[in-house]
Amino acid sequence: MLSGKRIILGVTGGIAAYKAVFLLREFQKAGAEVRVVMTPSATRFVGLETFTSLSGHQVAVEIFPEESSANEWTRHINWGEWADLFVIAPCTANTLAKISNGISDNMLSSTVLAARCPLLICPTMDGEMYESPAVNKNLNDLQDKGYHILEPESGYLASGLEGKGRLPEVETILKTASDIIGSIEGPLQGKKVVVTAGPTREFIDPVRFLSNPSSGKMGFAMAEAARNAGADVTVIHGPVSIPVPEDLHTISITSAAELFERVKEYAQADIIIMAAAVSDFTPKKTYTQKIKKQLDNSSLELKRTQDILSWLGNHKQEGQILIGFAMETEALVKNATSKLEQKNLDWIIANSLNQEDAGFESDFNTVHLINADDNIKFKDRKKDLAIQIINSIFRQRKNH
Ligand code: CTP
Repeated sequence: MLSGKRIILGVTGGIAAYKAVFLLREFQKAGAEVRVVMTPSATRFVGLETFTSLSGHQVAVEIFPEESSANEWTRHINWGEWADLFVIAPCTANTLAKISNGISDNMLSSTVLAARCPLLICPTMDGEMYESPAVNKNLNDLQDKGYHILEPESGYLASGLEGKGRLPEVETILKTASDIIGSIEGPLQGKKVVVTAGPTREFIDPVRFLSNPSSGKMGFAMAEAARNAGADVTVIHGPVSIPVPEDLHTISITSAAELFERVKEYAQADIIIMAAAVSDFTPKKTYTQKIKKQLDNSSLELKRTQDILSWLGNHKQEGQILIGFAMETEALVKNATSKLEQKNLDWIIANSLNQEDAGFESDFNTVHLINADDNIKFKDRKKDLAIQIINSIFRQRKNH
């Protein structure tokens, strides 16, 4: 259930904070990507570096970090949008009270307010504190608001007393997190989505072909984001330079003609995302034997391939959503907008090859998401960009 999921692990200042290190590892072993947010007092129990090196991400503590870059103060919003699940383990009485009252005076409590995903709270404190009327009131209030509370276990506590207040075993937290994720209905639940990805190859002879440097990264990222939003995803991909995701239904093709044949089979899908870099031309003639250089024939005759997206636009099903990509080297928005109109699309994602740190092979991209009314600019890692694009098009606040 946790494979491919994005989890924010919130750690507050209790003695059980060290157990969050093991929880982080278990989430990762289950295939989740984890980012950690700590309260300032949690850093007195476990060092920042521990979580930074294990999670592979900067740990967030303050809303305004000392050396903040221009847009870093919006991290709580970006992280809140990024996550599929927010787990606070351990959660002190203090943080519990803040969440119950909507206080946002540190990175953790602010991210809670910004989060669109379910929140699992694991309250952990001394037995007397846990039984106190104020904590009880806050717990009831949070439960009424629809947050998930995992009750602490009874046993020997840090104070030396026996009581109810211990953080449950890591396996119990993991199981509860999986159950919550399993019960989430994403905005694309029950939808059939087809994503095309990567380049096509148009063979001239058995050893030569026409193609482009598309890596498949953006298409696969879109497919994973759609799957994580609950969709039943099929990816039709050309010869890509990165591993094909094992947990998606994938179909491999080589040429534009093959891609067209497979896309037609899936043309009834609810949503079609054409991220493939389809060759616009193919040789008029394909030689069955290698062309010898002695042949005095240095020109190559080409013919147009089928514009698959235009065909889909002309055969659009009722209620179907068609999303195309546009790769431009000039007049980005103008050219992309005319493709949107000409190909009868609902959305087009415009990439410029002239941007720094963007394009075919890069892990990053800068795009404009355009439809008849909107033009939203995004700049991020391709994986995170795909999540933002899917969220923007099919926005729906996930249930607490
Ligand atoms: N596309 C397609 N079939 C083709 C060529 C492109 O379905 N034969 C799709 C791409 O997958 C993309 C969109 O059309 O979603 C735009 O592709 P792009 O290469 O940017 O533009 P073209 O339509 O090929 O136009 P041009 O080459 O003139 O920019």
